[in-house]
Amino acid sequence: MPKLVVTTREGETSEVQVDDGLTVMEAIRDNGFDELLALCGGCCSCATCHVHVDESFVEKLPRMSEDEDDLLESSDHRESNSRLSCQIPFTPDLDGLKVTIAPED
Ligand code: FES
Repeated sequence: MPKLVVTTREGETSEVQVDDGLTVMEAIRDNGFDELLALCGGCCSCATCHVHVDESFVEKLPRMSEDEDDLLESSDHRESNSRLSCQIPFTPDLDGLKVTIAPED
């Protein structure tokens, strides 16, 4: 099963196994990382699933939609590697993906 490596806001890193068909947000939330609120449940309308993606994976991710871009623009913590984790389906190609949960806005 592919792995996702999650770093919390406090800097603690852990690995989680990801079931087929989940998004990165679902994988994080379902593994008990309560600080990722994901308030809209993945509808791309809240930006509380904001993560910073390890630079080496940025190019492998699906392109950002206009909605995602607009939402990220509203964050004070947007970086060049920012993504909304609900907009990233976790494919086997992303095995080993490293993400850091972005600071709360
Ligand atoms: S969960 Fe709301 S935008 Fe991702």
